[in-house]
Amino acid sequence: MKAINKLWMLALLMAMPVLAIASGAEVHLDKAPVNLKDQVSLQRGAKLFTSRCLACHSASYMRYNRLQDIGMTEEQIKKDLELPEDVKLGSTMQAAMDANSAKLAYGVAPPDLSVIARSRSADWLYTYLRSFYVDSARSTGWNNAIFPNVGMPHVLSDMQGEQALKGEGHERKLELTAPGSMKPAEYDSAVADLTNYLVFMGEPAKLVRYDLGLIVLGFLSILFVLVYALKKEIWKDLH
Ligand code: HEC
Repeated sequence: MKAINKLWMLALLMAMPVLAIASGAEVHLDKAPVNLKDQVSLQRGAKLFTSRCLACHSASYMRYNRLQDIGMTEEQIKKDLELPEDVKLGSTMQAAMDANSAKLAYGVAPPDLSVIARSRSADWLYTYLRSFYVDSARSTGWNNAIFPNVGMPHVLSDMQGEQALKGEGHERKLELTAPGSMKPAEYDSAVADLTNYLVFMGEPAKLVRYDLGLIVLGFLSILFVLVYALKKEIWKDLH
């Protein structure tokens, strides 16, 4: 009997951290379909980013010409991203609005987004950009289900449309109340491209490292086969 009690205690102790996580996890994050090998998606994401986000946010660690890493030519970078004539390809991505005016307008300065995918995670970004809802109590008219009272307005509402937050507590969910120019699946896919791009921007060296990793793995497998063959050869005579 005592032993059984002890077992129970042990089981409970082991389950406690899990229970704690479960009760704290009120916000559910959707899995971002990140694929850094998909250059077309990365390019679409880069276009969305420069046309929709650079108005307020900078990406001070990101140079335009690094977009060549995702398969864009210098021509494409200039033309597809509609860069103004005076922007040099070697320059970093700077916000159109200066931080002070943005702070005055939105109460918070829009943070630099160069490495946002590392500080927030891809899943968080993918969920955040799909979780804006109409809230007349906010000065921007918008709120966000995973970033309560966010200072940022829903800058992609023309694409997604308008959502409302319905229900209470665990039952809370977002509902599309007015359609945008895209169907929900199209919008999800556009945000997936944007998230993909934000992940790339946070760590462009990842692309190189992927390939290096594969080469190392290939080398190790060949080495394994050789060593195994050698081992067999050596033990053959000893048995
Ligand atoms: C009209 C200006 C404006 C535009 C355009 C804009 N944002 Fe924002 N954004 C803000 C402001 C202001 C904040 C700060 C919100 C806060 O902290 O309450 C913010 C915050 C964020 C955050 C949260 C940062 C953090 O970790 O606290 C992310 C992520 C973000 N923006 C992504 C984007 C993306 C992606 C785009 C382009 C689709 C975009 N923003 C376009 C104004 C803007």
